[in-house]
Amino acid sequence: MAERPYVIDKMISAKAIDARIEELAREIKAEFPVGERIVVVGLLRGSFVFIADLVRELGDRDVEVDFLEASSYGNATESSREVRILKDLRGEIEGRNVLVVEDIVDTGHTLNHVIHLLGSRHPKKLKTIALLDKPSRREADFKADWIGFEIPDEFVVGYGIDYAQCNRNLPYIGKVRFT
Ligand code: IMP
Ligand code: MG
Repeated sequence: MAERPYVIDKMISAKAIDARIEELAREIKAEFPVGERIVVVGLLRGSFVFIADLVRELGDRDVEVDFLEASSYGNATESSREVRILKDLRGEIEGRNVLVVEDIVDTGHTLNHVIHLLGSRHPKKLKTIALLDKPSRREADFKADWIGFEIPDEFVVGYGIDYAQCNRNLPYIGKVRFT
């Protein structure tokens, strides 16, 4: 899709995101046993801001950070059903506690594919968190263990999330409105 002129309407403030991450971190800590390392896997590139804030809320835990990149929409707002792994994990996850961190669950195809792939490597525990969820768009049967915010079917940007590679650096989540 060619880029059309647009404005960004603020949807979720930086403060609200911050407060929600504190709550989520408490729930995550309750789920993962004290004294066992958590391998936190960020899906590139959209989760990079979220994972940075989230791991710092897990500061009293032993955390390892790894990244995985799955093919995404390219420079468009269209979904693609075919998911390819562009960059795999550096580390082994067999027998380990894994938390997958994603920016948005939309159709669910990406996380569905990634969770099946990582599950086939026999981690001890495999959990998923997504900052945003658009349940009305779901095609694949996928449910994250934790969701930051449920949102309507709007195209959003900011806090790591892009439109045509722009706006990842906004500290809040905004929706794209074409003008
Ligand atoms: P799914 O496979 O359809 O669930 O796609 C999830 C991926 O699509 C997310 O990780 C995002 O990279 C991208 N995506 C979905 N919705 C949006 C959006 O509103 N803005 C930007 N990227 C999005
Ligand atoms: Mg993504």
